[in-house]
Amino acid sequence: MVVLEGSTVRLRPVSPADYPVLYDWYQDPELVAPFDRYASESYAAFVASLEQADGDPASLAPRFAVERRAERDLVGVVGFYRAHPVLEYVDVWYVLGVRGARGHGAGSESVGLVADHLFRTTTVERVGAVCDVGNVPSYRLLERLGFRREGTLRSALFHHGRWHDVHVYGLTRADRTPPPALG
Ligand SMILES: CC(C)(COP(=O)(O)OP(=O)(O)OC[C@H]1O[C@@H](n2cnc3c(N)ncnc32)[C@H](O)[C@@H]1OP(=O)(O)O)[C@@H](O)C(=O)NCCC(=O)NCCS
Repeated sequence: MVVLEGSTVRLRPVSPADYPVLYDWYQDPELVAPFDRYASESYAAFVASLEQADGDPASLAPRFAVERRAERDLVGVVGFYRAHPVLEYVDVWYVLGVRGARGHGAGSESVGLVADHLFRTTTVERVGAVCDVGNVPSYRLLERLGFRREGTLRSALFHHGRWHDVHVYGLTRADRTPPPALG
């Protein structure tokens, strides 16, 4: 079982006890509003996607549950997926489902732990992320970690009734300082 320990958060695998809480988050249309949308067809489909994620590099299912160390509560999830059929990078995504946990550094610490984990345990050279151009907390989180804005894709994401532009961010192994220890 892979557990990533930070100073304020602990990332652990998603367990069946988490499924109802996570599914509730996915049913809340305001969870990531107004910057994105998340949805799942049904509870059964949601559970199936979680349980098949390990063998599927392109899975969009959450890969880690985020707990606050002090409160020992589940506050969010982080995912990563192979985002392109040819190019060899991995994109990360992240949500703090407990709104009261936002704005205290838990998001950036969690994404940093996952980026370091990917650099440590895979040969990937670039970890990427995309976010709605209006999602200031999301892109500030990325910039705090050293991700660089590499461009903007126009009309790339449809949500809340219209097409949105998204910023593309990337963090190379060399960008991350200090580089994570090998092994
Ligand atoms: C995006 C998200 C994970 C950020 O996590 P977080 O723990 O709240 O962020 P942090 O406290 O680590 O702060 C990261 C940066 O965002 C800034 N920030 C946080 N909340 C902010 C807000 N409401 N408005 C403006 N900036 C904000 C912080 O100041 C920090 O930037 P800094 O280093 O320049 O000071 C969280 O806000 C969230 O879950 N949002 C909804 C889901 C979502 O949008 N996910 C991303 C989809 S691309």
